[in-house]
Amino acid sequence: MKNEKYWETWSDNELQAFQEAFITWYEKEKRNLPWRVNLDPYRIWISEIMLQQTRVDTVIDYYYRFMEWFPTIKDLAEAPDDRLLKAWEGLGYYSRARNLKVAAQQIMTEFDGQMPKTIEEIRQLKGIGPYTAGAIGSIAFQIPEPAIDGNVMRVVSRLFEISDDIAKPSSRKVFEAAMYKIIDQYRPGDFNQAMMDLGSSICTPTSPKCEECPIQSYCLSYKNNTMTNFPVKSKKMKPKDVYYIGGIIENNQQEFLLEQRDPKGLLANMWLFPIAEVSKDRFEFLQKMLIKDDQQLSLDFEEPLLVAEENPEIFEDYSQVVWQKRTLGEVTHIFSHLKWHILVFYGRQTGLTAKNENQAWATKETFSNYVFPKPQQKMLDLYKQEFRKKE
Ligand code: ADE
Repeated sequence: MKNEKYWETWSDNELQAFQEAFITWYEKEKRNLPWRVNLDPYRIWISEIMLQQTRVDTVIDYYYRFMEWFPTIKDLAEAPDDRLLKAWEGLGYYSRARNLKVAAQQIMTEFDGQMPKTIEEIRQLKGIGPYTAGAIGSIAFQIPEPAIDGNVMRVVSRLFEISDDIAKPSSRKVFEAAMYKIIDQYRPGDFNQAMMDLGSSICTPTSPKCEECPIQSYCLSYKNNTMTNFPVKSKKMKPKDVYYIGGIIENNQQEFLLEQRDPKGLLANMWLFPIAEVSKDRFEFLQKMLIKDDQQLSLDFEEPLLVAEENPEIFEDYSQVVWQKRTLGEVTHIFSHLKWHILVFYGRQTGLTAKNENQAWATKETFSNYVFPKPQQKMLDLYKQEFRKKE
């Protein structure tokens, strides 16, 4: 027979044996993770939101701190925005944090302060889609609902040789159908988490460790040696390149100029060294021109820096800044649809240190009071590297 819907061919006995093998393996091998210590729906919700686009290892420290700062749904609903953003600093996809607060407020007003207990109600919360609703519903409330993410699609596509393109939203229903059939009705939360653990430790994207797999004997692609053909995934669109020059500007009080982003849009309200978008041609021109001078100049606070006229005007608005001719280097950062390239320069503010409303002058010691996104951390790393060399 054709292999489509192979899960429908499983007998009840086969299904039961499969579930037993899988859950037994999970009980023995499950990772000790801070959101697995109890079934508190609030704790599970926060972990699942953090884990959506971020690896387990990275999430753990953030998770502990978040729970310390916002131990209850009420605390989260009342969280000051800057504190919330600080808790999320460096995790990326900041709309997740903003949505969490809105959802916590929804729970306070619409659900009497208690996490809702049905999939339909959980789905009504801001920032919760089918994956997160399935994860919370199954883990916290034992509802037999699948939680389908990339890892689970990889495991299931191999298990049943499903060749639907996992990058297409329309393929979801095939994976759902398979998961509804195989999910353990009594222990859906453990079953879903067994899928997640198998996907991250054994059924990995390249070279899966099939010898160690607890469900190897049920796996169609293992039988046919087709593991590496699955999952089928069309290429993602390349992120759009955007080019910037970035200025690390220091004044005579060892303060640095920071600019706050608009309250709407990418990296809303976060702080960065000033950056200005330039064309790709301009970026490449600056890159080449300045690399030539690499050997000629080293950064030294005691030496006067090269004067502005010799430099291309880097930021037109910063006429009092004397720029160092050599770039400190380049920072790249990928957001979901954009790739930022920032060519970073160092400059000294010579005159008065005026600032606009959205700007601040801050010493290194006070940087921790500001919320910095990843590209800012990377610019700061370039600066630190430069100084370490001189020390
Ligand atoms: N990834 C997403 N959710 C997870 C969970 N509950 N445990 C481990 N990894 C996960």
